[in-house]
Amino acid sequence: MKKICPSILSADFGKLAEEIKSVESAGADIIHCDIMDGHFVPNLTFGPDIVSKVNEITNLPLDVHLMINSPEKFIESFQKAGADYISVHLENNYHLNRLLNRIKDLKVKAGVAINPSTPVKALEYVLEYADFVLVMSVNPGFGGQKFVSNSLKKVRELKEIILKNNYNCLIEIDGGIGPANIKEVSDAGVDMFVCGASVFKSEDVKKSVAGMKKIIQG
Ligand code: DX5
Ligand code: ZN
Repeated sequence: MKKICPSILSADFGKLAEEIKSVESAGADIIHCDIMDGHFVPNLTFGPDIVSKVNEITNLPLDVHLMINSPEKFIESFQKAGADYISVHLENNYHLNRLLNRIKDLKVKAGVAINPSTPVKALEYVLEYADFVLVMSVNPGFGGQKFVSNSLKKVRELKEIILKNNYNCLIEIDGGIGPANIKEVSDAGVDMFVCGASVFKSEDVKKSVAGMKKIIQG
C-alpha cells in the first residue's frame, strides 16, 4: 500500500506534538525526520534526541533521512531513538553495501538516497541490497522547494529496473510533492511520498494529508 510520509522539517517545532498528532489522525502512514549536518547539506536540523521524542509522541513508524557526512557513526543512535527506516546518501558513502547491511542487521529498513544529479545507473550494484530508494526531487537541505521535473523520468527508469529484476525494493520520493503532482508521481511508480510544506504549511493539515492519501490510493 502506498504511504504518505509527512516531513516534520516544515512543522511548527513549538507545537510539535500537536502537529504530529494532527497528521496521525488524518491518516499519515510514516513520520519523515530530516537529519542535516551543515556539511553534506547547507542546513542544520536535529539529532537522535529529538527523534526519540518524536517516537514518544507517535505510534507511527519513523523514517530517518540522513543528510550527513559519516552516517555510519550515527546508525545505532538513530535505531535506539526509534527509527524504523533509515536512508543514507549514495554520494558520500565509501562502503554503501556494508552500511546497508549494518542497518538491516539492526532490523531497520535500509534505504539509499540519491540527489537530483545522481543517475539511476549509479544504483545498479546496490539495488538488490536496499529495502528502498529515496529519490530526491529537490536538492536536499530545505523544505518548500520546487519539484525537479526530470525526477519523474528517474522514477520510471528505476521502477522498470526493479520490476525487471524482481527486486524487493520500494521507491520513496522526497521534495516538492503536493496535491498538484502527487498523482503523476504515483503513476510513475512511487510507493512512499514525503510531503513537508504541502502538509505543514497548508491551511488545513488534516485535509491536506487526507486529500493526498485519497489520490494515491486511487
Ligand atoms: C529536503 C528534505 C525533505 C523536505 C521536503 O532536503 O529531505 O524531506 O522536508 O520538503 P517539501 O515537501 O516541502 O519539499
Ligand atoms: Zn527528507
